[in-house]
Amino acid sequence: MLYDQYKKRETFKDSFDTPLFGTLEADSPIPKNVIGEHPLEPALAYQLIKDELMNEGNARLNLATFCQTYMEEEAVKLMSETLEKNAIDKTEYPQTAEIEHRCINMISHLWNSPDEADTIGTSTVGSSEACMLAGMAMKFRWRKRAAEFGLDLSKKPNLVISSGYQVCWEKFCVYWDIELREVPMNADCMCIDPNTVLQYVDEYTIGIVGILGITYTGKFDDMLAIDRILETYNASTRHKVYIHVDAASGGLFVPFVNPDLPWDFRLKNVISINCSGHKYGLVYPGIGWVLWKRKEYLPEELIFEVDYLGGKMPTIALNFSRSASQIIGQYYNFIRLGKEGYQRIQQKTQDVAHYLAEQLEETGIFHIYHDGSDLPVVCYTLKEDEKREWTLYDLSDRLLMRGWQVPTYPLPKNLENIVIQRIVCRADLNYDMAELLIRDVKEGIQELNQAAVLVHGKKAEPKVYGFTH
Ligand SMILES: Cc1ncc(COP(=O)(O)O)c(C=O)c1O
Repeated sequence: MLYDQYKKRETFKDSFDTPLFGTLEADSPIPKNVIGEHPLEPALAYQLIKDELMNEGNARLNLATFCQTYMEEEAVKLMSETLEKNAIDKTEYPQTAEIEHRCINMISHLWNSPDEADTIGTSTVGSSEACMLAGMAMKFRWRKRAAEFGLDLSKKPNLVISSGYQVCWEKFCVYWDIELREVPMNADCMCIDPNTVLQYVDEYTIGIVGILGITYTGKFDDMLAIDRILETYNASTRHKVYIHVDAASGGLFVPFVNPDLPWDFRLKNVISINCSGHKYGLVYPGIGWVLWKRKEYLPEELIFEVDYLGGKMPTIALNFSRSASQIIGQYYNFIRLGKEGYQRIQQKTQDVAHYLAEQLEETGIFHIYHDGSDLPVVCYTLKEDEKREWTLYDLSDRLLMRGWQVPTYPLPKNLENIVIQRIVCRADLNYDMAELLIRDVKEGIQELNQAAVLVHGKKAEPKVYGFTH
């Protein structure tokens, strides 16, 4: 087969005026597992790969993801013009390092740091890396204290978190040999029950993670209540426990929409926070942030030095080389939007979530668990109806036929019998699109109600669309 193609090449060479879809390569399979023998013309390579990716779905209709699917043209231009900048190379790109530093200062301000000069942080690839760093800092600090207090260091330390945790925490615990102590999500608030948290805490606890925006439901853990409970606990023991807030989604949403909510460095026992710049920070995937309230909370062993303008600069991140373009995209958004711009976008996103929740409620068949009042995420289940012969998984199917990805999945531990559907509203889901979505939901329901052929009985097998946690 390949030989035939090479022979064809000898007699039928492509030239500059060969139409793209008339080229030999457009008529033959492109290299898949073994690198090809010959170069391709750039326009052709571009087209062939773009065509392969064509049926992947429209990112903006993917309501499963929290990750940003729209940026302004100017931002994209700036980011594509800075792709070659290596974020770790502080000597070659000192202004980029300065921009990263400015972003950290801006975020520490948004998170009400008591002393910005003493707050330390870094950009990361996303919240997963940020959580890994925050978890390592908790473990290293605990180990030092544990050694001082004569605890048995061969025993596994533990991390306390709601069962609605994102998978990055499970990874952290596996990689670092830590017991993950799950506090079952409370069925009423669909978040952690602060009153039960202490049952899971002991002298081997490296920290408690509160989640500002539980991935499953979009609800917030009550950080103020956890802080108060810990305040009393810490006053009674030398084995003090502190809070890390996983604000992957809420960290760059709440400061603009609900600035009075106390969840951040205003709380005494919150000592580190992470967020994803690529979620409500409104940057394309590839950027996260983690900050420690005071330098003393970041153990020195985790800080490494890199060259910077003839001197040294501390770095904390796990990755070494990566493009700085996402950091630059984050700075673009910060200066372009300002607080007012972010507020308007996030408020609109929340309004759209409320609209969707109202419309879904009006159908009369859904029970709304979360109407977008915390994160702009709507989640709901089907009310019981013995006559109904379809499930939320079927509705996801119907919506997928119209291009919408709306995931259906069971809740975590303790609530696994509840199957929910979730719509993540993002900046680029405008009111008009929301109307179309509701139209498609209603039509989907009608079609399902009338469907004569069902492919399964009442026990539907879960199907996964997009990632749900
Ligand atoms: C609460 C929470 N933490 C951590 C993460 C991981 O974030 P990233 O995708 O930025 O690594 C997510 C992602 O959805 C999340 O929702």
